[in-house]
Amino acid sequence: MPQIIDGKAISAQIKEEVKQKVSELNAKGINVCLAVIQVGNDPASSVYVGNKKKACEYCGIRSESYELAEETSESELLELIGRLNKDEAVDGILVQLPLPSHISEDKVIAAIDPSKDVDGFSVNSVGALAVGKKGFRSCTPAGIIELLKRSNIEISGRECVIIGRSNIVGKPMALMMLEQNATVTVCHSRTVDLASVTSRADILIVAIGRPRMITSEYVKEGAVVIDVGIHRNENNKLCGDVDFDDVKDKCSYITPVPGGVGPMTIAMLMHNCVSRYLEN
Ligand code: GUN
Repeated sequence: MPQIIDGKAISAQIKEEVKQKVSELNAKGINVCLAVIQVGNDPASSVYVGNKKKACEYCGIRSESYELAEETSESELLELIGRLNKDEAVDGILVQLPLPSHISEDKVIAAIDPSKDVDGFSVNSVGALAVGKKGFRSCTPAGIIELLKRSNIEISGRECVIIGRSNIVGKPMALMMLEQNATVTVCHSRTVDLASVTSRADILIVAIGRPRMITSEYVKEGAVVIDVGIHRNENNKLCGDVDFDDVKDKCSYITPVPGGVGPMTIAMLMHNCVSRYLEN
């Protein structure tokens, strides 16, 4: 049996650290506030937004909630972001994606002041990561780095293969693994002979968005397998991009779904809300 990486426990540890930091800040008269914007009422987004607000409450971060109608215009949303940018009481601005199709996500992300971009999605934040400067780190890949580090898994010098090249996970993940001195390969839908590339990986990070696609023939004996996917299978049970039962006996460590990468995204969002107050 592999070691199961417990994302729930590690995310709880991070939230506890944030909570401690917030209480120290409160003692000095400093309050931390996250503005959370949702446009429309996509049920999955409502669940995510609800969980983010709950995590804020747990950590002592005030969340300011903006639930806007589906018909909200792009200019109305940009105007709200403009106001929140200027509001000194607001530390972070989160606009839940996806947005309705009449609103440009690129424009909205670009409108957020870089000093409040706690999602780390802006060109500014990703650019800072690319050149090794301080800045907000995209929460899911940053959470994966924490999962590896806090499980004492060596990254430096190891072969890391990432499947998926999205702006939210694959690309920033590659930059973060490079920053940790891994040798990094990024695979995608045009990769020829995927299994031959993935079977080189000491650390395999899977973010393809296809339920249980990664079976044991994609995995090297003893690899660390990180599963970013989340889906419902035919029995309405949650599953990932990795076929857990098929892969588990071949790897050394694996993240489960649920309870692996998922909880880390919100924990790192909480971390980003206080990161400007942390030393280093
Ligand atoms: N939609 C899916 N994941 C995310 C996320 O991490 N942040 C935001 N803002 N929207 C999302």
